[in-house]
Amino acid sequence: MTNRILEVIQTRRTIKQFDARPIAEAQWTAWLEAASYAPNHRMNEPWEILEVGPETRAKLRHKTDFGGAPVVLVLLSKPAATAFERDENVMAVSCFAQNFLLAAHDAGVGAYWASMGALPHNREILGVQEGYDVIGIFGLGYPADTPAVKPRTPIAAKIQRLP
Ligand SMILES: Cc1cc2nc3c(=O)[nH]c(=O)nc-3n(C[C@H](O)[C@H](O)[C@H](O)COP(=O)(O)O)c2cc1C
Repeated sequence: MTNRILEVIQTRRTIKQFDARPIAEAQWTAWLEAASYAPNHRMNEPWEILEVGPETRAKLRHKTDFGGAPVVLVLLSKPAATAFERDENVMAVSCFAQNFLLAAHDAGVGAYWASMGALPHNREILGVQEGYDVIGIFGLGYPADTPAVKPRTPIAAKIQRLP
């Protein structure tokens, strides 16, 4: 591979076990800052972030406690006036999430994306207001174990050519 960004994209993995090394707040906020250059319609910047503290984290009762991640963040997508705009917000925050994951990965840090935050009782624990979508809860840390790549379908099989 010659292009660095292709290498960063293709070597990112979902990480489920972390070692004890901390991550400085200045680091993860820098990745969030970079993530905010994601495309977003009408520049509405629909992302919001919750930093999960120890009390809230314990209440979530995640099966592995997010693999022992030193940092746990929640990504929210803002409410919208219409279903179409709401979908667009979720799309933009998903772009934000991927930017964030890649920035962290480039610094040697992995993430565990858990979708459990969308469940009603977890929304309540997180204090998520009505109309917001929970995009994910992200455990963040230095990988204790990096799994093998999960092979993808060759992209040619996904391309349809219209006349
Ligand atoms: C919207 C979304 C939700 C996900 N939720 C979970 C989850 O709840 N638990 C989990 O183990 N992985 C979750 N993942 C991670 C996927 O399982 C993972 O990305 C996939 O297996 C591919 O592996 P890779 O990220 O290492 O390439 C989620 C990913 C996305 C995009």
